[in-house]
Amino acid sequence: MKIVIGSDHAGFRYKENAKKYFAMTAEHTCIDVGTDSEASTDYPDYAVLAVNALLSRKADMGILICGTGIGMSIAANKFKGIRAAVCESTAAAQLARLHNDANILCIGERLTSWEKALEIIKTFLETSFDDSERHCRRVDKLNKLPQ
Ligand code: RB5
Repeated sequence: MKIVIGSDHAGFRYKENAKKYFAMTAEHTCIDVGTDSEASTDYPDYAVLAVNALLSRKADMGILICGTGIGMSIAANKFKGIRAAVCESTAAAQLARLHNDANILCIGERLTSWEKALEIIKTFLETSFDDSERHCRRVDKLNKLPQ
């Protein structure tokens, strides 16, 4: 799978950790849209870069990391076709994929340990959408909402 990954300064360390994990396992290829240091930046800038990679089909799935995951999710969810979910547990990550067909995982580096974040990332990427009629109908309705 092609993963686009981005962060602001507050999520930079976990972004680098995740990239190392992806390089080590060689299961996924990774597009890094920045930021490239812990110098202060603005999370919407990186959310937009990641969204563009997804919407132009350069990536299949996205991971966005900031201090809480919240700012990244608010920014990403402004775009039609994006379903970004902030997840602080593997259960949330699994359900975000199963029920919501979430295509961006948002993580808060200040709120989640790296060990937990890695479990969340793995769960999110390993879980497929449950395409039963009721979930498809609800996601279709999401896609039709004004943005
Ligand atoms: C940066 O200080 C912080 O506000 C940002 O990373 C994020 O948590 C916003 O939602």
